[in-house]
Amino acid sequence: MKSSVQKTSLVVRKNRELTAILEVSKVLTTSFNLDKNLSSVMSTLGSLLEMQRGCVFLLDRSSGELRIVAAHGLAKHNIERGKYRIGEGIVGRVLEKKTPMVIPNIGKEPLFLNRTGSRPEKDGISFLCVPIQFKNEVLGVLSVDRIYSKELGGVDDDLRVLEIVSSLIAQFVKLWESYEKVEKEKENLKRELKGKYRIENIIGQSDRMQEVFEAVHRVAPSKATVLLRGESGTGKELVAKAIHYMSPRSKGPFVKFNCASIPEGLLESELFGHEKGAFTGAVSSRKGKFELAHKGTIFLDEIGDLPTTLQPKILRVLQEREFERVGSEKTIKVDVRIITATSRNLEHLVSQGKFREDLYYRLNVIPLFLPPLRERGEDIPILIDYFLEKFNRENNRSVVFDKNALRIFLNYNWPGNVRELENTIERLVIMSASDRITAADLPVSLSIRRLKTPDKSASLITNVEEIEKANILDALEKTGWVQARAARLLGITPRQIGYKIKKYEIAERAVQ
Ligand SMILES: Nc1ncnc2c1ncn2[C@@H]1O[C@H](COP(=O)(O)OP(=O)(O)O)[C@@H](O)[C@H]1O
Ligand SMILES: [Mg+2]
Repeated sequence: MKSSVQKTSLVVRKNRELTAILEVSKVLTTSFNLDKNLSSVMSTLGSLLEMQRGCVFLLDRSSGELRIVAAHGLAKHNIERGKYRIGEGIVGRVLEKKTPMVIPNIGKEPLFLNRTGSRPEKDGISFLCVPIQFKNEVLGVLSVDRIYSKELGGVDDDLRVLEIVSSLIAQFVKLWESYEKVEKEKENLKRELKGKYRIENIIGQSDRMQEVFEAVHRVAPSKATVLLRGESGTGKELVAKAIHYMSPRSKGPFVKFNCASIPEGLLESELFGHEKGAFTGAVSSRKGKFELAHKGTIFLDEIGDLPTTLQPKILRVLQEREFERVGSEKTIKVDVRIITATSRNLEHLVSQGKFREDLYYRLNVIPLFLPPLRERGEDIPILIDYFLEKFNRENNRSVVFDKNALRIFLNYNWPGNVRELENTIERLVIMSASDRITAADLPVSLSIRRLKTPDKSASLITNVEEIEKANILDALEKTGWVQARAARLLGITPRQIGYKIKKYEIAERAVQ
């Protein structure tokens, strides 16, 4: 017969066991974080069931090793040491035999390896170990140490609790595994999609740039005429070169010509060449760009600036691939691919009669639009990394941007697009005295948010409010975001700066 004291302590104990099981199942459903959840399980067992030490070992299927994933009452270096092979030690045995093991007094057990080295005094400690299994598959082992004493309750009770806990853990681990698998697949799929269209030296993870890359991959192998559109500095020339080097003509020449670069009178002879004596100064005959581009690609930049007088001749090259040098009647045939680019509104020029409609259609076979940087902000951080790396390498520096500087870079509207971003970074890398660029090192113009409009003149307009906002940001950055000090710097009261920070919605998180 049990005494009433014994009965009461039994009830207390049962209650604690139930509480522990309930807590464990709660903990396991809080998140999909394996390490965190299992650690919480172990500390719950530790505090509610007077367990000295506890470990969750999971089987690493690729290495066949058991690894401690969570532990209670073990120092970190002990955790790292706790690796077992299947069949090794008690933990390994339990895994192999798929049955629990209890060692009432580990001091007397030769099998007990004490791998973790966490028990200097083995005597007087009992060790319980149960497999973590789902259906017939063993996933790992749960082990627990208790001070060995008969009064603390029977080993069978302990085992029963541990087996319930281990089956809860097993279910969680299974769920976690399938969650991880799905997440990984999603990640891979995303990466595959993102990296699907890669072009050397051209950075762009945004959907807009990926569309451009896809089109480049498609048109490159053909001989089709491509028209590149987009603001200045968006990478038109870069794309033209990529198309050439990705085409079967890559071994042939890539000849670039800017139609806006020289006076109208000289254009024809530059493009088509001339014979000796064709005009004053033509002391010898000379090949033009089209001839030089034979078997390769000619890139005509700023095609919108092509004078109307020359347009018929270009049209003929497009249609027949033939022309005559200036001062010659001999027709020359060339094999060239033609890529053109413009930042101007060609349709507008056509409607004004400044650009021939038939030429427009001939050029516009495959139009590619390069989006401005402000419409693909997600590419900015990657471009920053890319250019920092490039200019650090070129200049033997190791410059980095701090958080505030980066934030200003991201918020700026980049009217000059990638070219402006590239030049700004190059200048900063070369000029910066320290390796850490802070907001204070940046040109003031970057702090002034530009109006987000594609219209060139409007994008340069900054109003008083924007300048004020920029000044406040500057002051905050200079004073480590201490508002009172920033206010003093600006000669206003802390109340006033507080009001303005709200008014301009200056990021709360940055303000301490
Ligand atoms: N997506 C990009 N990735 C890397 N560099 C770029 C990118 N777009 C533009 N650049 C760089 O910016 C500068 C301007 O590009 P460019 O092709 O000359 O532009 P555009 O011809 O449209 O004016 C060049 O130095 C180029 O290398
Ligand atoms: Mg250009």
